[in-house]
Amino acid sequence: MGAWWWLRPLGHAPVARAASTVSAASLHDPALIARGTYLALTADCAGCHTAKGGTAYAGGRRLPTPFGNVAVPNLTPDAATGLGAWSFEDFWQALHTGIGRDRQPLYPAFPYTSYTRMTRDDALAIFAYLQSLPAVRQAAPSSELAFPYDQRRLLRLWRALYFRPGPAAPVAGDRGAYLVDAIGHCAECHAPRNRFGATRHRALLTGGEIPAQHWFAPDLAASPHGGLAGWRERDIVDLLKMGQAARGAAFGPMADVVRGSTQYLTAADLNAIAAHLVALPPRQVPGPGWQLFDARRLVAHGEEVYRKRCADCHGDDGRGVAGVYPPLAGNASVTEPSGINAIRIVLLGGFAPTTVTNHRPYSMPPYQQTLDDVDVASVVSYVRAMWGNRAGAVSPQDVARYRHTPVE
Ligand code: HEC
Ligand code: HEC
Ligand code: HEC
Repeated sequence: MGAWWWLRPLGHAPVARAASTVSAASLHDPALIARGTYLALTADCAGCHTAKGGTAYAGGRRLPTPFGNVAVPNLTPDAATGLGAWSFEDFWQALHTGIGRDRQPLYPAFPYTSYTRMTRDDALAIFAYLQSLPAVRQAAPSSELAFPYDQRRLLRLWRALYFRPGPAAPVAGDRGAYLVDAIGHCAECHAPRNRFGATRHRALLTGGEIPAQHWFAPDLAASPHGGLAGWRERDIVDLLKMGQAARGAAFGPMADVVRGSTQYLTAADLNAIAAHLVALPPRQVPGPGWQLFDARRLVAHGEEVYRKRCADCHGDDGRGVAGVYPPLAGNASVTEPSGINAIRIVLLGGFAPTTVTNHRPYSMPPYQQTLDDVDVASVVSYVRAMWGNRAGAVSPQDVARYRHTPVE
């Protein structure tokens, strides 16, 4: 294979700006802007491009990755610090091919790896919406990446190995697949990543640990052996709309996704997503079996902790209380392979997202101060092994590791 091209230093070619095929006037079309508003919410652009307490879409924060912190730029139409001087062609190039306006490759912390499957029409609507926002002058902070990851040109190698641009005109016929794979970019979290941060193509939606954040996004198949086995379409819709469903509740990064994005989706789009997840092919491998090593003692102690601290809300039978306390039996977040989610929710407590349809979700107290590492490992191993759950035990060392992980 001719691999010479990515070794060439970048940046010597004159910056060629594609002539825009879109007139400024057409960007002011209110119908287009309205569609773009909805699509930007669906794609959760503001979820990353907004600093804590800052103006939506004005950037100004850094995103943690295993390679360092990547600065998130301003998407408002300010000419100096935002997209004010960008043409639609520049924008399309960024979203579809991950190349910035200065022709440098962008870090895949920006999920263009999913957005590349977005249609040009939808990208245009989002661009029209972003250009309609009030301009905010706010330069992005600098990135804090370790050498050699601070060398943008190395991304050429990464791209050669892991990135294929999506079709120029994806068939938006399968709305559910399109929302999940392209716009909703669900696989950016719900897929395993290799050590270079790339998702494995054939393993999309099979679940994975989110790098640098220490949460596990479970397998999204609702078929036998899938992470959502036993979920009905209705449960998936409820979770995405209200942050809570008969089978589980959203917390951690998924609570952010529901709060900032999926709660605003139309019923038709939520149904399309649910239908797509329910139709994912059955998984060949069952989840990791219940490991019998020294876990029995942990589990016996776990039962005591559970009775005393947890059963009031989650029930002796682990079934919870419908609409109030999530069941722990058959819950993908309890049984996901790593055990991280259950450990962290016990340490940090859980706050389901407040959504338009659920103003006052119930929350779970943190046990950071009251339970030590052995207690937490025991109770988590217990809930992972009871009521038909068959997930492996976690060790006190695992708990110690996540006890000191900063919350992001
Ligand atoms: C998961 C976080 C995340 C999400 C979601 C996200 N972005 Fe970004 N985006 C980034 C990061 C990080 C960068 C900076 C990448 C770099 O510096 O190479 C970026 C860069 C960009 C750029 C290049 C801007 C510039 O000044 O070079 C554009 C345009 C952009 N994003 C648009 C969008 C749009 C539109 C959406 C929604 C459809 C979106 N982003 C969603 C994280 C995100
Ligand atoms: C920013 C990362 C991220 C993105 C993007 C994301 N998820 Fe999640 N998701 C998670 C994490 C982490 C969990 C585990 C915590 C939990 O259960 O809420 C999760 C859990 C879930 C669950 C199971 C909830 C439960 O209680 O077991 C469903 C269903 C789900 N996600 C659907 C989706 C869909 C559909 C999309 C795309 C529209 C999506 N997610 C996008 C991180 C993400
Ligand atoms: C006061 C009631 C209450 C108590 C006591 C309680 N929880 Fe929870 N628990 C909740 C609520 C409410 C949620 C949903 C929180 C969210 O979505 O952020 C939850 C969520 C969870 C989850 C994640 C499941 C999911 O789908 O959201 C796990 C695991 C869990 N609790 C385990 C425990 C364990 C183990 C204990 C005892 C050490 C415990 N809980 C004690 C109320 C409680």
